[in-house]
Formats: sequence, C-alpha cells, structure tokens
Amino acid sequence: MMRKTLFLFVLAAWMGCKQSPSPIPLPPPGMAFYEKQCASCHQSDGEGVLRTFPPLKNNATVEGPHGRLIRLALHGLEGELLSGSEVYRGACPPWGHLSDEDLADILTFIRKRWGNNAPPVPADDIKMIRLFYRDRTTPWTPEELKKPENTSVPGVAGW
Ligand code: HEC
Repeated sequence: MMRKTLFLFVLAAWMGCKQSPSPIPLPPPGMAFYEKQCASCHQSDGEGVLRTFPPLKNNATVEGPHGRLIRLALHGLEGELLSGSEVYRGACPPWGHLSDEDLADILTFIRKRWGNNAPPVPADDIKMIRLFYRDRTTPWTPEELKKPENTSVPGVAGW
C-alpha cells in the first residue's frame, strides 16, 4: 500500500513537471521599434493611410531588392511616389542613426509581416551601403531608387 501511494505520488509529480505551461512566444525583433516609430504613419496593420502614407503590406519596395530598401531607410525618401495604384507626395524620415543590427531587424520585420514574404535583410549589407554612401546627406527620390544600380549592394556579389 505504502509503495503504491509513493508510486502515485512520484507519477503525479512527474506529470506535473511535464505539464508546465508552454512559454509565451517573444514578439519578433524589430516589432517594438516599428510600433513606436513607423506605425504612427504606416499603421500597425501595415495598411498605411490612403494617399498620405503608403501601405507597407503587399508593397513592391518592401518585398523587392533589399539594396533599395536599405538605401531608402538610411537616408529617407522624398518626392512623388507611385505606390500600388496611388500617388504619394510626402517624405519618409531617414533612420541612419540606428545601428546596422536594429535597422536589419526592422526591415526584416516589415518583409515578413502582414503576409509579406521576402528574405531577411543582413546587417552586413546595411554596413556596406552605409559606408558606400557615407557622404550622402539628402534623401533618395523614388525616381533615383528605381535605377537598377540602386537595387544592389555595392561590393557584394550576387545582388
Ligand atoms: C512621419 C511619417 C512616417 C514615418 C514615421 C515613417 N514613414 Fe515611411 N513613408 C512615409 C511617407 C509619406 C512615404 C512616401 C514618401 C514619398 O511620397 O515619396 C513613406 C514611404 C516609405 C516606404 C516606401 C514605400 C513605397 O511604396 O515605395 C517604406 C519602405 C517606408 N516608408 C518604411 C518606413 C519604415 C520602416 C518606417 C519606420 C522605421 C517608416 N517608414 C516611418 C511616412 C513615414
């Protein structure tokens, strides 16, 4: 009897350990910054604001070549922009004060969020582009960013 009680006790304790609650998943890196700094314009659901702030969901620039996205993020964007079927005439602030790693997290976040599905942005590629354009002080125009040479990463083969 004693042994049986002991056995049940050990069994219950073992099952108790097994049933520990599953860990709460951490939010993806970059999400907190997006919510704090980008969502005021582009919105938490990535839908933007019609004719004022372009949506980042299902967006060709966000999911396109990451060289172009990095340039835009480092120095900002200003000028008439055709995004989807709408025209925008605003400005996106530059984010070059952020570290390569933080910026990589944010850009990777928007490339994977809201059904977007593009490869992650490597921090090393941000480093290369930052170095290459270290003397640049003006924002990019949508026209400039369209040029094929502004989609690749200088010095990185295969892009
Ligand atoms: C103050 C408002 C504002 C904030 C904050 C802002 N943006 Fe923008 N963003 C804009 C506007 C306006 C445009 C369109 C610029 C134009 O008309 O040339 C834009 C354009 C863009 C585009 C290009 C979209 C396209 O269709 O080509 C991307 C990508 C982008 N923003 C990403 C971001 C990210 C990432 C953040 C946060 C780190 C951010 N933006 C923060 C206003 C903002």
